[in-house]
Amino acid sequence: MKPVPLALDDIPPFRVPLRFYLTAPVFGAAAGVMWLSQGEFAFQSRWMNGTLAATHLLTLGFLAMVMLGSLFQVVPVLGGGAIPAARRIAPLVHAGLVAGTVCLVIGLDGFSPGWLGAALVLLAIAFGTFVALLAWRILRPSRGGDALFTIRLALLCLIATIVIGGWMAIGIARPEAGIRFRDWTDAHASFGLGGWVLLLIMGVGYQVVPMFHVTPPFPSWLVRGVGSTVFAGLCVLGVTRDSPLATLAATGVTLAGLVWAIGLLVLLSRRRRRRAEPAVRAWQFAAVALVIALLLTWKIVCLPDSLVPGVPAHQTGMLAAVLFGFGFAITVVFGMLGKIVPFLSFTHLQRRCLVRPAAIPLLPAMNRILSDRAARWQLRLHWVAVLGVVLAVCWPPSAPWAAGLVVLDFAHCFVNVATAAVRYRRASLAISGVEASPAAT
Ligand code: HEM
Repeated sequence: MKPVPLALDDIPPFRVPLRFYLTAPVFGAAAGVMWLSQGEFAFQSRWMNGTLAATHLLTLGFLAMVMLGSLFQVVPVLGGGAIPAARRIAPLVHAGLVAGTVCLVIGLDGFSPGWLGAALVLLAIAFGTFVALLAWRILRPSRGGDALFTIRLALLCLIATIVIGGWMAIGIARPEAGIRFRDWTDAHASFGLGGWVLLLIMGVGYQVVPMFHVTPPFPSWLVRGVGSTVFAGLCVLGVTRDSPLATLAATGVTLAGLVWAIGLLVLLSRRRRRRAEPAVRAWQFAAVALVIALLLTWKIVCLPDSLVPGVPAHQTGMLAAVLFGFGFAITVVFGMLGKIVPFLSFTHLQRRCLVRPAAIPLLPAMNRILSDRAARWQLRLHWVAVLGVVLAVCWPPSAPWAAGLVVLDFAHCFVNVATAAVRYRRASLAISGVEASPAAT
């Protein structure tokens, strides 16, 4: 599959994704604080209120926040066309997601109906607006290639996740309705993590890995085959969990994920730009973490009675979840932020300089907006945090240390993005000065 030529004319202003990128690490750090408050009990049970709340600080507050912000840029760039009124709609989606996540987290932490009800309304506004806008763009025939095929599937999984999540929230808020919400948790978690998060990362990877790292493109059969298999497998697992069909579906999803991860590693090993960039290391680490998480999840579904050496039997699911969340998804996002924030800042400033050549000397190099060094330290800190969380899953006394590392990890991410934003703003103001001067026209 050849990456689609970028359609840079349609991209919205940089402040559209930036507000999402600046808010996301704050939610990530809040998840760490929540785990700190749980002491040794953090990472010990998926059903603790605090765990459910922290899960959504990460999945909605961090991952969905970055992903929604990025999609405002990615969909036009991949040929989906300009998102209508992006600059007016983005603040609404952002505000709804921030407020809705806060209400959901408070609601899940206290199982409190009022907060859950408010979360439902706010998140429905945020996601409803976003999905309606994006669906309108990406479902119509366009020149978007295979990357958009996978992003479309991710979007369908997002809709399923939110509908099931909302249904469960109603079940908790109104016990008299008799909704057996726990019957739905696994389907919600699989569509959320295995569908929305995994498929979206795959879809974006198909475009950005060959583009940023000068690798051969992903073959079309892999893109179409992996996306369809993961999506079909999740649909089956949504309706049955303990039947031969479920075993087949889990095996299909696992194999598709393995093919993607191995394909990614092979392509990266054949990249023409040989520098060991932080983003390359992030993709490599994430691919390995994904392979382990997928194998553990397959074991849980297909071989429930077998043991993993060194891992308490009741903690296998938690280990798979933290490897997927911290080891795979958050690693990819940190790697991408280190690459995409300077790239977008530079691209937006450069487009203005091309119209006003007198401003070109004011254009900072990408490395001056966010250095490779800063991105590399981010990844090193993150890897220590991932190891800390994995250790805490198996050895509870280390949990407070792991939670502290998670806070530091996201605080570092915030400092990196905020530093880049300040440098972008400075350069932008300087260029505005040139634009305003009559001599430049
Ligand atoms: C992209 C978005 C989302 C993702 C990735 C996601 C992920 C998850 C995961 C992984 C769990 C299981 C936690 C565990 O087993 O420890 C979970 C549980 C839950 N989620 Fe979400 N979620 C998302 C959005 C939502 C939304 C929008 C709502 C409600 C409006 C929601 C409501 C719930 C509820 C109520 C539970 C707990 C169910 C229970 O106690 O059994 N989620 N979510």
